[in-house]
Amino acid sequence: MAGRVFILGREVEAFEEEWARFCGVRRAAGVNSGTDALTLALIASGAVHKGRRDEVITSPLTAAYTALAILNAGGVPVFADIDAQTYTLDPPALERAITPRTRAVIPVHLYGQMADMRALSEVAAHRGLTVIEDASQAHGASVGGKRAGAHAHAAAFSFYPTKNLGACGDGGAVTSDDAALIERVKTLRQGGHAAAFGTGVEGRNSRLDEMQAALLRVKLQYLEKWNEQRRGLARIYGEMLRGTTLKLPSTRAPEAHVYHLYVTQHPQRDRLRSHLAAHGIETLIHYPFLIHQQPLFQRPEQDALPVAEDLARKILSLPLHSHLTEEETREVAAKILLFEA
Ligand SMILES: Cc1ncc(COP(=O)(O)O)c(C=O)c1O
Repeated sequence: MAGRVFILGREVEAFEEEWARFCGVRRAAGVNSGTDALTLALIASGAVHKGRRDEVITSPLTAAYTALAILNAGGVPVFADIDAQTYTLDPPALERAITPRTRAVIPVHLYGQMADMRALSEVAAHRGLTVIEDASQAHGASVGGKRAGAHAHAAAFSFYPTKNLGACGDGGAVTSDDAALIERVKTLRQGGHAAAFGTGVEGRNSRLDEMQAALLRVKLQYLEKWNEQRRGLARIYGEMLRGTTLKLPSTRAPEAHVYHLYVTQHPQRDRLRSHLAAHGIETLIHYPFLIHQQPLFQRPEQDALPVAEDLARKILSLPLHSHLTEEETREVAAKILLFEA
């Protein structure tokens, strides 16, 4: 760690350069969480102004932080339905959710899979909307040779410890080709302070510390290998469980998915879950509730979202992380086959 700088020093600067290069964009800014990365990207892009009731459209099936970030920026979260195969924002549903107040859209690359950025960006461009990728679950996923983080005006990443690239604590980053946007994020992340104008901007305290940046720089060297391991485990599930009642994840293209999570669907999800728990296998539900149905986010204008609402009753995340062995993965699949029999 350089000198005695513990926050926003040379490790952070070096990580920002390396992360921008990895994602294939010109610039990156380290911040203290994925939530703040989204909030600051919304503000720095000029899409959302506090007090204007600017609407930002996103997915109802994501970590609630995506929607909280919209509130934190001063915007109004609006939810559009998702695609039944990939669980990411559905372009025609996005189009239907647009109102005269809509300013931005946040596609979420859910569970490690890229949203359909080409179609979503087309809708957004046609309607003059800013696009911010929520790439918190998709470090290293790519489409058409372009990685997550390089498909929109800006993108937000979380480095929460369990992410494909995780720190030993909280961390996040904004990536963009727009150098001015990244400079604004850098001003906002430290109290709005900039040498040129003192504290003239309503900023916040959202800094990435040197220790996390140093760790992330080391772990970044292993990210592609770890993503390949995750894909390998997903292939084992695929080979062993194809043809069962369990609906396996659909992928747009192999490189578009980095399996942050391995989310299946089962018509008797809760029974299968209890069966696996009885065999000592922990499964989770991502996410147990849909955001548009939560009291904080309910609005009378919100349409029903039938695809997401149907999915919420069936989704089940099987164990999958970079420390899981092939043998353990086979064991989980074997216990599912036992349930099916
Ligand atoms: C899709 C998504 N968006 C946003 C976030 C928020 O990131 P953080 O926990 O670093 O604030 C997370 C992680 O929790 C996430 O998975």
